[in-house]
Amino acid sequence: MTALASVTSSANGEAKAMLLLSVLLLLSQAKGAHPECGERPIFEAGPQYSRITEGMEAEVGEFPWLVSIQAGNEHFCGGTIIDEWWIVTAAHCLYSGDLEPKDLSVVLGTSDLQSPSLEIKGVTSIVLHKDFERSNMNNDIALLLLNSQITFNDLKKPICMPRQPSPSTWSECWVAGWGQTEPDDKNSMGSDLMKVPMIIMDWQNCSKVFPNLTKNMLCAGYENENYDACQGDSGGPLVCTTESDKKWFQVGIVSWGRGCGMKNTPGVYTLLENYSPWIKKVTEVQGRPYNSQIMRAPSMQKPKGSQAPKFPEPGGPRLWFLLCLLPYMLFQAIFYW
Ligand code: ARG
Repeated sequence: MTALASVTSSANGEAKAMLLLSVLLLLSQAKGAHPECGERPIFEAGPQYSRITEGMEAEVGEFPWLVSIQAGNEHFCGGTIIDEWWIVTAAHCLYSGDLEPKDLSVVLGTSDLQSPSLEIKGVTSIVLHKDFERSNMNNDIALLLLNSQITFNDLKKPICMPRQPSPSTWSECWVAGWGQTEPDDKNSMGSDLMKVPMIIMDWQNCSKVFPNLTKNMLCAGYENENYDACQGDSGGPLVCTTESDKKWFQVGIVSWGRGCGMKNTPGVYTLLENYSPWIKKVTEVQGRPYNSQIMRAPSMQKPKGSQAPKFPEPGGPRLWFLLCLLPYMLFQAIFYW
């Protein structure tokens, strides 16, 4: 009798533990978002004080996905962490003929390029979009494969990739970089990361300013302000967030402009949402498939039309398994309780 009671009570305990575990797993699935991407815990936790052109200094941990791409220890372009292995940047940054992976280094997890303890990684592959056109900057996107995996922490986080965002849904956008703060002064590149707020501009209106704008580009600026990216900011991200969701999404890659910071002249960015299938393909071919766990955006992004990139739904089968397991565990728990 006592032996049987202890067997049933241990089965009962096990059932309760399993029930608790299933509920916890279900809750984590139901949230739909992968906690890793687009977050900036240090920045969100600390006080936010507040110069790119007309910008201000970024805070520690404010853009944990931003990296500096360097050659001979000199910064020349920005880039973004998209998963443990891959950095997205602009093709025009790496186009100049004889650059090889061994010439490049990527500085991660800092807003200060003169910090004494910089984390630097090497690069093993450079993949430029094969249809990048220097003449009009169409398909200005490239990927760098790192020589070792990034260990994420509060200063190093991947950015979220939007599937098909509609610019009107963004509540706040920023561009950040270590580029020139004075449009015509090459020596104005500093070691402190700078940021400026941005507003995404209607494509039709922007094509009136830039008639050679392609559908792979988007424009962003700030009415009546000189806010803009400049030389040295290229390859870095234009990131946005929505009111409801405090995750950050990369919407654009700093690509080109007319001068820098000219009033009412927007900057032009590579429209990243057009390249999700490209990222998926290249990273698979290179044997380090893009970690779609991180790619998955929260449900606020309505896919527009049929050309929405088709990524495998991570966690799908797991969710169904848990959904089936839950009633079983409930039954067990009620029966034995
Ligand atoms: N092409 C420049 C670079 O290589 C970035 C230009 C961005 N210009 C602008 N006005 N938004 O760094």
